[in-house]
Amino acid sequence: MRLFRTTWRLRRKLSALPVKPVTVTIILLMIICSPVVLNHMGVFTHFLEKDYYTEFSYPLEGNLQPLVKELKLGNEPPIKPINVFNYSYLKLCQNKCSNNENPKLLFVVKSALHHSEQRQAIRQTWGNQLNFSGVEIRRVFLLGTGSDPEIQEKVDEEDKLYDDIVQADFHDDYRNNTLKTMSGFKWAVEHCPSARYAVFSDDDMYISTKNLLRFIRNPSSYPEQESHPRKDFEHRDRSLKEEPALVAEGFENEQNEVANLNEESKLYAGYVFHSPPQRHRSSKWYVSLNEYPYHLWPPYVTAGAYVVSRGALLDLHYGSFYTKYFQFDDIFLALVALKINIEPVHCSEFYFWKKNYSKLGYRDVIASHGYSNPDELRSVWNDLKSAGYA
Ligand SMILES: *[C@@H]1O[C@H](CO)[C@@H](O)[C@H](O)[C@H]1NC(C)=O
Ligand SMILES: *[C@@H]1O[C@H](CO)[C@@H](O)[C@H](O)[C@H]1NC(C)=O
Ligand SMILES: *[C@@H]1O[C@H](CO)[C@@H](O)[C@H](O)[C@H]1NC(C)=O
Ligand SMILES: *[C@@H]1O[C@H](CO)[C@@H](O)[C@H](O)[C@H]1NC(C)=O
Repeated sequence: MRLFRTTWRLRRKLSALPVKPVTVTIILLMIICSPVVLNHMGVFTHFLEKDYYTEFSYPLEGNLQPLVKELKLGNEPPIKPINVFNYSYLKLCQNKCSNNENPKLLFVVKSALHHSEQRQAIRQTWGNQLNFSGVEIRRVFLLGTGSDPEIQEKVDEEDKLYDDIVQADFHDDYRNNTLKTMSGFKWAVEHCPSARYAVFSDDDMYISTKNLLRFIRNPSSYPEQESHPRKDFEHRDRSLKEEPALVAEGFENEQNEVANLNEESKLYAGYVFHSPPQRHRSSKWYVSLNEYPYHLWPPYVTAGAYVVSRGALLDLHYGSFYTKYFQFDDIFLALVALKINIEPVHCSEFYFWKKNYSKLGYRDVIASHGYSNPDELRSVWNDLKSAGYA
């Protein structure tokens, strides 16, 4: 009824114009349907896409697991790697995880050369807790290189002061994010073997270490339903007894739980998408059929913040040696994960957009995008820290 009335009003307005409404409609239709516009919108490309479910394959084909296993053992596999991160490191933070310290959790923050203010805010907030409830934590920032010697001087100063910059010799640009991610994976594998978990994050994120550790403890049922009895009756008595400890700052056991995780456990978690590639030519994320011909991406974890266990880190790192380079880092990791059979775990408390801030609304938030303003990050984090949510 409402639609009818709107249409009628529109027609009445249009009839006041010197051209007939029918003419206007026809002209509009002609514009929208013109091959040029449709092509720009990627309509034709969609018809040419291959079916992800039945036709998917991506180089290198074949079973990668035996090759990954050989690499993990330090042997030379029978097939040569096709994609190795071989840029040299200008800053290595070599002792970050050694010196008789055995950090269990590692923050690896993808940053940009000129984002020194954002790095400072992270150092003062979620990146500052180096021992949370007995869990040893370290943080590093990943950088590439630029052409401005003044900015590099500042980075050098920063590194002297804080010893937390890992810089590799490739051009720092968001279109090189996959290189940056690969530099971080390689660094974590080689220089921080004690870390049971690594969190990869952008430098404009809010992160709650407290909630992250809660999530790691029980990824499949986060957040815990603290105010309701649990559904698993078998463990009911036990969980009821333990509930108050959970509600209170009950991380006494965290150290052991995190430490006891074996290398076989493969967690790769964050906000998981099942979505089609962008074929719209003006999109920042446009991808051609040549580069990726299928109608869906593999399930992927958005790259703003995600967590990997040591087992997943090793497999993804060595798996990447046999996976053709892809420009988007989240898709690249998804391709590797698919080929080595790691299923991404979804958790909606990793916000890839900026969740509207309220103290209570952020109680269970693990990560939220949108904190590129250092003052805002400091104020939100301090607020949540004092509320016991960070
Ligand atoms: C790095 O690896 C690529 C292939 O992944 C190769 O083309 C290039 O020559 C290598 N560079 C060096 C310095 O080894
Ligand atoms: C971390 O904190 C715990 C207590 O919360 C303490 O027992 C432990 O020694 C600390 N570790 C380091 C390296 O300071
Ligand atoms: C990525 O890094 C490589 C190596 O430094 C460089 O040749 C290339 O131009 C960079 N890509 C972009 C888009 O900056
Ligand atoms: C978030 O806040 C903005 C403005 O402050 C508001 O327009 C929007 O509706 C809010 N979104 C939600 C989901 O509450």
